[in-house]
Amino acid sequence: MISKTMENALNTQISLEGYASFLYLSMASWCDKEGLQGCAAFMHRQSDEERQHMLRIFHYISEVDGHALAPAIAQPPHSFESVHKLFEQVYAHEQKVTASINELLSLAYKDNDHTTLNFLQWYVTEQREEEALMRGILDRIKLIGDGPMSLYYIDKEMEKINKAELAAEAAESAA
Ligand SMILES: [Fe+2]
Ligand SMILES: [Fe+2]
Repeated sequence: MISKTMENALNTQISLEGYASFLYLSMASWCDKEGLQGCAAFMHRQSDEERQHMLRIFHYISEVDGHALAPAIAQPPHSFESVHKLFEQVYAHEQKVTASINELLSLAYKDNDHTTLNFLQWYVTEQREEEALMRGILDRIKLIGDGPMSLYYIDKEMEKINKAELAAEAAESAA
């Protein structure tokens, strides 16, 4: 059994992960419209991942006898200034999620809630990886440049990164 405060905080995290899933879905759609199929595939996979992050918390709350709430999701933006700006927004959102996970950890420490502390460790690792991935992508976009002539190369690069992420996921689930 977790405290009511922790249950509420975890339900808020469900909204944040759910919003990330819809934001990335919206970004995938914009990339598709711009003819950036590598970027679209990457954002679709990220969107699926965020839904899994949401569900993981959802099931955890039920497991510890709380009440998991399906969130209301605000409509995400539908258009983006550029691929560079889009990935800056992704990175900013991931940083926001990391801060929120850290808040949850602080709350769990205060509650002496070792079960939730243990559960949250997965998210600590995940956020470190996600931030590093997005920072790496932004570095590459800076190197390639994001003028119209560079978009093709950025998209090819994203296709490669997406394939590597898929391969890593497959290896992880086979282990
Ligand atoms: Fe997430
Ligand atoms: Fe994420």
